[in-house]
Amino acid sequence: MAVSLKGRNILTLRDLTTEEIWQLVKTAETLKMEKLRGQQNKVLEGKPLGMIFQKPSLRTRVAFEVGMSNLGGHAVYLGPDDIKLGKRETTEDIARVLSRYVDGIMARVFSHEDVVELAEKSRVPVLNGLSEFTHPSQGLADLLTIYEKKGCLKGIKMAFVGDGNNMAHTLMFAASKMGMHINMAIPEVYNPRKDAVEDAKRFAAETGGSVNLMDDPQEAVKDVDVIYTDVWLSMGPGNTDQQEKEKVERRRIFLPYQVNMDLLRLAKDDCIVMHCLPAIYGEEITKDVVEDPRGRVVYDEAENRMHTAMAMMALTMGSQT
Ligand code: CP
Ligand code: NVA
Repeated sequence: MAVSLKGRNILTLRDLTTEEIWQLVKTAETLKMEKLRGQQNKVLEGKPLGMIFQKPSLRTRVAFEVGMSNLGGHAVYLGPDDIKLGKRETTEDIARVLSRYVDGIMARVFSHEDVVELAEKSRVPVLNGLSEFTHPSQGLADLLTIYEKKGCLKGIKMAFVGDGNNMAHTLMFAASKMGMHINMAIPEVYNPRKDAVEDAKRFAAETGGSVNLMDDPQEAVKDVDVIYTDVWLSMGPGNTDQQEKEKVERRRIFLPYQVNMDLLRLAKDDCIVMHCLPAIYGEEITKDVVEDPRGRVVYDEAENRMHTAMAMMALTMGSQT
Protein backbone atom coordinates (compact mmCIF):
# COMPACT_ATOMS: atom_id res chain seq x y z
CA MET A 1 0.00 0.00 0.00
CA ALA A 2 1.41 3.41 -1.02
CA VAL A 3 1.85 5.76 1.94
CA SER A 4 2.71 9.43 1.97
CA LEU A 5 4.44 11.30 4.75
CA LYS A 6 4.39 14.62 2.91
CA GLY A 7 3.48 17.48 5.26
CA ARG A 8 3.46 15.16 8.30
CA ASN A 9 5.19 15.56 11.65
CA ILE A 10 7.44 12.83 13.03
CA LEU A 11 7.24 13.16 16.80
CA THR A 12 7.36 9.50 17.84
CA LEU A 13 7.45 6.14 16.06
CA ARG A 14 4.34 5.30 18.10
CA ASP A 15 2.33 7.51 15.70
CA LEU A 16 3.62 5.86 12.51
CA THR A 17 2.33 2.70 10.86
CA THR A 18 4.56 -0.26 10.04
CA GLU A 19 4.33 0.73 6.34
CA GLU A 20 5.40 4.32 7.06
CA ILE A 21 8.38 3.15 9.10
CA TRP A 22 9.34 0.77 6.27
CA GLN A 23 9.08 3.62 3.80
CA LEU A 24 11.46 5.73 5.90
CA VAL A 25 13.96 2.86 6.28
CA LYS A 26 13.86 1.92 2.57
CA THR A 27 14.13 5.57 1.48
CA ALA A 28 17.15 5.99 3.76
CA GLU A 29 18.70 2.87 2.21
CA THR A 30 18.11 4.27 -1.31
CA LEU A 31 19.53 7.70 -0.42
CA LYS A 32 22.58 6.02 1.13
CA MET A 33 23.18 3.94 -2.03
CA GLU A 34 22.78 7.03 -4.24
CA LYS A 35 25.30 8.87 -2.11
CA LEU A 36 27.79 6.00 -2.24
CA ARG A 37 27.46 5.96 -6.04
CA GLY A 38 28.11 9.72 -6.08
CA GLN A 39 24.62 10.47 -7.39
CA GLN A 40 23.11 13.75 -6.29
CA ASN A 41 19.50 13.97 -5.14
CA LYS A 42 18.49 17.61 -4.72
CA VAL A 43 14.90 16.91 -3.72
CA LEU A 44 14.98 19.76 -1.17
CA GLU A 45 16.67 22.31 -3.48
CA GLY A 46 16.55 25.78 -1.91
CA LYS A 47 14.51 24.69 1.12
CA PRO A 48 15.52 25.82 4.62
CA LEU A 49 15.22 23.72 7.80
CA GLY A 50 15.04 25.41 11.22
CA MET A 51 16.86 23.41 13.91
CA ILE A 52 16.01 24.15 17.55
CA PHE A 53 18.40 22.70 20.13
CA GLN A 54 17.76 23.01 23.86
CA LYS A 55 20.51 20.45 24.54
CA PRO A 56 23.95 19.63 23.07
CA SER A 57 24.35 17.33 20.06
CA LEU A 58 26.98 15.92 17.72
CA ARG A 59 25.14 13.31 15.64
CA THR A 60 21.67 14.86 15.38
CA ARG A 61 22.90 18.31 14.51
CA VAL A 62 25.44 17.19 11.91
CA ALA A 63 23.15 14.48 10.47
CA PHE A 64 20.34 16.96 9.81
CA GLU A 65 22.57 19.88 8.80
CA VAL A 66 24.77 17.94 6.37
CA GLY A 67 21.80 15.82 5.27
CA MET A 68 19.90 18.97 4.38
CA SER A 69 22.79 20.30 2.32
CA ASN A 70 23.16 16.90 0.57
CA LEU A 71 19.52 17.26 -0.52
CA GLY A 72 20.08 20.78 -1.86
CA GLY A 73 18.61 22.67 1.08
CA HIS A 74 20.22 24.32 4.08
CA ALA A 75 19.78 24.37 7.85
CA VAL A 76 19.60 27.23 10.33
CA TYR A 77 20.94 26.28 13.79
CA LEU A 78 19.17 27.82 16.77
CA GLY A 79 21.05 26.84 19.93
CA PRO A 80 19.98 26.96 23.57
CA ASP A 81 20.96 30.63 23.94
CA ASP A 82 19.50 31.83 20.63
CA ILE A 83 15.77 31.58 21.12
CA LYS A 84 15.38 30.24 24.68
CA LEU A 85 12.28 28.18 23.88
CA GLY A 86 9.39 29.15 26.17
CA LYS A 87 11.50 31.70 28.09
CA ARG A 88 12.23 34.59 25.73
CA GLU A 89 8.90 34.04 23.97
CA THR A 90 6.23 31.39 23.95
CA THR A 91 6.71 28.08 22.17
CA GLU A 92 3.53 28.89 20.26
CA ASP A 93 4.91 32.17 18.89
CA ILE A 94 8.21 30.49 18.00
CA ALA A 95 6.32 27.85 15.98
CA ARG A 96 4.14 30.42 14.26
CA VAL A 97 7.02 32.75 13.36
CA LEU A 98 9.69 30.18 12.49
CA SER A 99 7.32 28.29 10.19
CA ARG A 100 6.87 31.48 8.10
CA TYR A 101 10.59 31.29 7.23
CA VAL A 102 11.37 27.60 6.87
CA ASP A 103 9.96 24.47 5.20
CA GLY A 104 10.56 22.19 8.16
CA ILE A 105 11.54 22.33 11.84
CA MET A 106 13.69 19.85 13.70
CA ALA A 107 13.65 20.29 17.47
CA ARG A 108 15.60 18.77 20.37
CA VAL A 109 13.77 19.64 23.56
CA PHE A 110 13.67 18.81 27.26
CA SER A 111 9.93 18.27 27.45
CA HIS A 112 8.10 16.21 24.83
CA GLU A 113 5.12 18.57 25.25
CA ASP A 114 7.20 21.31 23.64
CA VAL A 115 7.75 19.38 20.43
CA VAL A 116 4.03 18.51 20.40
CA GLU A 117 3.14 22.20 20.82
CA LEU A 118 5.60 23.22 18.09
CA ALA A 119 3.91 20.72 15.77
CA GLU A 120 0.42 21.89 16.66
CA LYS A 121 1.22 25.54 16.00
CA SER A 122 3.59 25.20 13.04
CA ARG A 123 2.60 25.46 9.37
CA VAL A 124 5.42 23.11 8.38
CA PRO A 125 6.40 19.56 9.42
CA VAL A 126 8.10 19.19 12.80
CA LEU A 127 10.65 16.42 13.37
CA ASN A 128 11.56 15.36 16.90
CA GLY A 129 15.34 15.43 17.34
CA LEU A 130 15.03 13.97 20.89
CA SER A 131 12.79 14.68 23.84
CA GLU A 132 12.84 13.18 27.32
CA PHE A 133 10.14 10.78 26.07
CA THR A 134 11.50 9.56 22.76
CA HIS A 135 14.15 9.82 20.02
CA PRO A 136 12.54 8.72 16.73
CA SER A 137 15.32 9.86 14.37
CA GLN A 138 17.71 7.61 16.32
CA GLY A 139 15.21 4.74 16.25
CA LEU A 140 14.98 4.91 12.46
CA ALA A 141 18.78 4.82 12.13
CA ASP A 142 18.79 1.81 14.45
CA LEU A 143 16.24 -0.02 12.29
CA LEU A 144 18.24 0.72 9.13
CA THR A 145 21.39 -0.60 10.83
CA ILE A 146 19.72 -3.82 12.00
CA TYR A 147 18.20 -4.31 8.54
CA GLU A 148 21.61 -3.85 6.89
CA LYS A 149 23.41 -6.18 9.31
CA LYS A 150 20.75 -8.89 9.64
CA GLY A 151 18.88 -8.66 6.32
CA CYS A 152 15.43 -8.37 7.89
CA LEU A 153 13.57 -6.82 10.81
CA LYS A 154 10.63 -9.14 11.44
CA GLY A 155 11.53 -11.89 13.87
CA ILE A 156 14.79 -10.26 15.01
CA LYS A 157 15.47 -10.77 18.72
CA MET A 158 16.80 -7.78 20.60
CA ALA A 159 17.64 -6.93 24.21
CA PHE A 160 17.68 -3.40 25.57
CA VAL A 161 19.75 -3.27 28.75
CA GLY A 162 19.75 -0.21 31.01
CA ASP A 163 17.52 2.73 31.87
CA GLY A 164 13.82 2.95 30.94
CA ASN A 165 14.52 6.24 29.15
CA ASN A 166 13.75 7.89 25.79
CA MET A 167 15.74 5.23 23.91
CA ALA A 168 13.91 2.44 25.75
CA HIS A 169 10.57 3.93 24.63
CA THR A 170 11.85 4.45 21.08
CA LEU A 171 13.13 0.89 20.71
CA MET A 172 9.95 -0.61 22.15
CA PHE A 173 7.92 1.28 19.55
CA ALA A 174 10.38 0.50 16.73
CA ALA A 175 10.62 -3.20 17.54
CA SER A 176 6.92 -3.75 18.18
CA LYS A 177 5.86 -1.96 15.00
CA MET A 178 8.27 -4.06 12.92
CA GLY A 179 7.39 -7.50 14.34
CA MET A 180 10.59 -7.85 16.33
CA HIS A 181 11.00 -9.44 19.78
CA ILE A 182 12.45 -7.13 22.40
CA ASN A 183 13.52 -7.97 25.95
CA MET A 184 13.79 -4.90 28.16
CA ALA A 185 16.26 -5.56 31.02
CA ILE A 186 15.67 -2.59 33.30
CA PRO A 187 15.79 -2.25 37.09
CA GLU A 188 12.15 -2.05 38.22
CA VAL A 189 12.58 1.38 39.80
CA TYR A 190 13.63 2.82 36.40
CA ASN A 191 11.03 1.04 34.27
CA PRO A 192 9.80 2.73 31.07
CA ARG A 193 6.49 4.61 31.06
CA LYS A 194 3.52 2.30 31.58
CA ASP A 195 1.52 3.73 28.68
CA ALA A 196 4.51 3.22 26.36
CA VAL A 197 4.84 -0.43 27.42
CA GLU A 198 1.11 -1.03 26.97
CA ASP A 199 1.09 0.55 23.51
CA ALA A 200 4.19 -1.38 22.42
CA LYS A 201 2.66 -4.67 23.62
CA ARG A 202 -0.48 -3.87 21.65
CA PHE A 203 1.55 -3.14 18.47
CA ALA A 204 3.54 -6.34 18.97
CA ALA A 205 0.33 -8.38 19.24
CA GLU A 206 -0.65 -6.99 15.81
CA THR A 207 2.71 -7.59 14.10
CA GLY A 208 3.69 -10.95 15.61
CA GLY A 209 6.47 -9.42 17.73
CA SER A 210 6.81 -9.32 21.51
CA VAL A 211 7.84 -6.94 24.30
CA ASN A 212 9.06 -8.47 27.56
CA LEU A 213 9.98 -6.46 30.62
CA MET A 214 12.48 -8.19 32.90
CA ASP A 215 15.12 -7.17 35.37
CA ASP A 216 17.77 -9.81 34.65
CA PRO A 217 20.23 -8.70 31.91
CA GLN A 218 21.72 -12.18 31.59
CA GLU A 219 18.32 -13.71 30.93
CA ALA A 220 17.46 -10.88 28.51
CA VAL A 221 20.48 -11.32 26.19
CA LYS A 222 20.22 -15.12 25.82
CA ASP A 223 19.87 -16.02 22.15
CA VAL A 224 19.40 -12.42 20.91
CA ASP A 225 20.64 -10.95 17.61
CA VAL A 226 21.07 -7.41 18.96
CA ILE A 227 22.05 -5.97 22.35
CA TYR A 228 21.35 -2.26 22.82
CA THR A 229 22.33 0.03 25.65
CA ASP A 230 22.32 3.75 26.44
CA VAL A 231 23.60 6.06 29.19
CA TRP A 232 22.33 5.55 32.73
CA LEU A 233 21.61 9.27 33.18
CA SER A 234 20.15 11.17 30.24
CA MET A 235 20.79 14.82 29.38
CA GLY A 236 18.87 16.94 31.86
CA PRO A 237 18.41 20.68 32.29
CA GLY A 238 21.81 21.17 33.96
CA ASN A 239 24.43 19.73 36.26
CA THR A 240 22.63 20.38 39.49
CA ASP A 241 23.67 18.87 42.84
CA GLN A 242 20.53 16.74 42.62
CA GLN A 243 21.68 15.23 39.33
CA GLU A 244 25.16 14.56 40.69
CA LYS A 245 23.61 12.72 43.64
CA GLU A 246 21.40 10.78 41.30
CA LYS A 247 24.43 9.83 39.19
CA VAL A 248 26.05 8.07 42.16
CA GLU A 249 22.83 6.26 43.06
CA ARG A 250 22.20 5.23 39.46
CA ARG A 251 25.74 3.93 39.06
CA ARG A 252 25.17 1.62 42.04
CA ILE A 253 21.85 0.30 40.73
CA PHE A 254 22.86 -0.02 37.06
CA LEU A 255 26.32 -1.59 37.44
CA PRO A 256 24.94 -5.16 37.07
CA TYR A 257 23.41 -3.95 33.76
CA GLN A 258 26.73 -3.04 32.17
CA VAL A 259 27.21 -4.37 28.63
CA ASN A 260 30.62 -6.02 28.84
CA MET A 261 32.37 -9.05 27.33
CA ASP A 262 30.89 -11.38 29.96
CA LEU A 263 27.36 -10.35 28.99
CA LEU A 264 28.17 -10.50 25.27
CA ARG A 265 29.32 -14.14 25.65
CA LEU A 266 25.76 -15.10 26.63
CA ALA A 267 24.28 -13.83 23.34
CA LYS A 268 24.43 -15.44 19.87
CA ASP A 269 27.94 -15.58 18.35
CA ASP A 270 26.92 -13.14 15.61
CA CYS A 271 25.07 -10.80 17.96
CA ILE A 272 25.72 -7.10 17.31
CA VAL A 273 25.96 -4.44 20.01
CA MET A 274 24.36 -1.07 19.47
CA HIS A 275 24.44 2.26 21.31
CA CYS A 276 23.00 5.59 20.21
CA LEU A 277 26.13 7.39 21.57
CA PRO A 278 27.49 9.38 23.32
CA ALA A 279 28.72 6.53 25.53
CA ILE A 280 30.29 6.63 28.95
CA TYR A 281 32.88 3.87 28.74
CA GLY A 282 33.18 1.85 31.93
CA GLU A 283 29.58 2.62 32.85
CA GLU A 284 26.82 1.26 30.58
CA ILE A 285 29.33 -0.24 28.10
CA THR A 286 33.00 -1.21 28.21
CA LYS A 287 35.55 -0.04 25.66
CA ASP A 288 36.52 -3.59 24.65
CA VAL A 289 32.95 -4.26 23.52
CA VAL A 290 33.04 -1.29 21.15
CA GLU A 291 36.50 -2.30 19.89
CA ASP A 292 35.18 -5.79 19.11
CA PRO A 293 33.82 -6.14 15.52
CA ARG A 294 30.35 -6.85 16.99
CA GLY A 295 30.45 -3.52 18.81
CA ARG A 296 32.05 -1.44 16.03
CA VAL A 297 28.52 -1.39 14.58
CA VAL A 298 27.91 1.72 16.73
CA TYR A 299 29.79 3.78 14.14
CA ASP A 300 27.71 2.43 11.24
CA GLU A 301 24.69 3.21 13.37
CA ALA A 302 25.96 6.79 13.88
CA GLU A 303 26.55 7.15 10.12
CA ASN A 304 23.02 5.95 9.46
CA ARG A 305 21.70 8.90 11.46
CA MET A 306 22.42 11.03 8.40
CA HIS A 307 20.77 8.74 5.87
CA THR A 308 17.63 8.40 7.98
CA ALA A 309 17.54 12.15 8.74
CA MET A 310 17.63 12.70 4.96
CA ALA A 311 14.75 10.24 4.49
CA MET A 312 12.71 11.99 7.20
CA MET A 313 13.23 15.39 5.54
CA ALA A 314 12.82 14.18 1.94
CA LEU A 315 9.54 12.41 2.73
CA THR A 316 7.95 15.07 4.92
CA MET A 317 9.27 18.25 3.26
CA GLY A 318 9.95 17.18 -0.32
CA SER A 319 8.33 15.35 -3.17
CA GLN A 320 10.24 12.09 -2.54
CA THR A 321 7.67 9.30 -2.19
N1 CP B 1 22.64 9.84 19.37
C1 CP B 1 22.46 11.16 19.40
O1 CP B 1 21.33 11.68 19.33
O2 CP B 1 23.61 11.86 19.50
P1 CP B 1 23.74 13.44 19.73
O3 CP B 1 23.22 13.71 21.11
O4 CP B 1 25.19 13.73 19.58
O5 CP B 1 22.90 14.14 18.71
N1 NVA C 1 19.17 8.89 26.56
C1 NVA C 1 20.14 9.82 26.04
C2 NVA C 1 20.20 9.74 24.55
C3 NVA C 1 21.23 10.63 23.93
C4 NVA C 1 21.26 10.53 22.45
C5 NVA C 1 19.78 11.23 26.48
O1 NVA C 1 18.58 11.59 26.40
O2 NVA C 1 20.66 11.95 26.93
